Amino acid sequence: MEKKLKKLSKKVNSYLNIYLSKSNSSELIVPMKYGLFPGGKKIRSKIIFDVGKIFNVKNKDLFILAASVEAIHAYSLIHDDLPCMDDDKLRRGKPSTHIKFGESTAILAGNSLLTTAFEILSDKNFKVEDKIKSGLINRLSRCSGQTGIAGGQYLDLSYEKKKVSLKKILNMELKKTGKLFEFCCVAPLLLKKNRKNLNSFSKIGNDIGLLFQIVDDLIDFKGKTKSAGKKTKKDIKKGKATIISLLGYKNAVKYANKLKQNIYNKLRLHNNKANDLRETINFIMERNN
Ligand code: IPE
Ligand code: IPE
Ligand code: MG
Ligand code: MG
Ligand code: MG
Repeated sequence: MEKKLKKLSKKVNSYLNIYLSKSNSSELIVPMKYGLFPGGKKIRSKIIFDVGKIFNVKNKDLFILAASVEAIHAYSLIHDDLPCMDDDKLRRGKPSTHIKFGESTAILAGNSLLTTAFEILSDKNFKVEDKIKSGLINRLSRCSGQTGIAGGQYLDLSYEKKKVSLKKILNMELKKTGKLFEFCCVAPLLLKKNRKNLNSFSKIGNDIGLLFQIVDDLIDFKGKTKSAGKKTKKDIKKGKATIISLLGYKNAVKYANKLKQNIYNKLRLHNNKANDLRETINFIMERNN
C-alpha cells in the first residue's frame, strides 16, 4: 500500500507542480509549494482513484480531481497549524508553513491554495461538459466552506475545553474532515453522470472521512511525533472535544471498527471492483501517521 501511495503521490505532485509553474507566478508560490510538497500520504487522491476504478473513470480526469483536492487539503493544514488555531509548529515532518515564512504569508499561501483548487477545476484543459464542471465546483465549494471544512474547524475550536455531546462531536468531525472525503467519493460519479450511486457514495465518503478523523485522534492520543510527522498528545492539552475525550480510547477504537464494518457492508454491492477501496480503508485503520 505504501508503494502504491508513493507512486500516486509522485504523479499528483508532478501535475500540481506543472500547474503552478505554468501560471504567472508571484512570490507566494514558494510558501504554497512548501505546504504542498512533498506533501502527505495522499489518501484523498487514493480514494478518488479507488472510486474511479469502480466506475471506470478516465485517469486523466481523476488526476485533475486529485490535484484540486490536495490543494484544498494543504490549505486546510496550513491554516489549522496557525497560532490562532491549533498552534502547531511541526507538519509533515518539517516546520509548519507559518514557522518557516511567518503568519501573514502562511495565511495568504493558504488562501491561494484554496483558490488554486477552483482554478484547476475551471481550467479549459479540464475537458468535461460545462454542466458537469460547474457541478463539481459547486460541490467542492460546499465541502470546503462554512458547510464543510471551515464550518467544522470553527466548531472544533469553539468546542475546546467544553463537554460536548457525541452527536455534536460527530457533526464537527464530519464537517472538518468528512466533507472533503465525501467529495472524493462523489466526484468520480459526477463525472460519469451516475446519479444512481450518488447517495450511497456520499454516505460512504462521509463515513470514511469520519473514520479517518477518529483514527487521526487515536494517533494523537497514542502515536509518536516522529512517525506521525506532527506533534502528538496535543488534543488533551488543548482540551479538544473528540470521541476519545468523551468515551475513552477503547470505546473510540470500538466505534472506529463499527464504522469500518458499516462501510464494508455498503460496499458489498460492488464485489471485487471495490477491493482497492477496501484496501485503502484498512490502511486508514492501521496507519501510524
Ligand atoms: C491530517 O490529514 C488532517 C486531518 C484531516 C486529520 P492527513 O493525515 O491526510 O495529512 P497528510 O496529507 O497525510 O499530511
Ligand atoms: C484537522 O484536524 C482537520 C482539518 C480540516 C485540517 P486536526 O487538527 O486533528 O488535524 P492534525 O492532527 O493537526 O493533522
Ligand atoms: Mg485542528
Ligand atoms: Mg491540528
Ligand atoms: Mg489531529
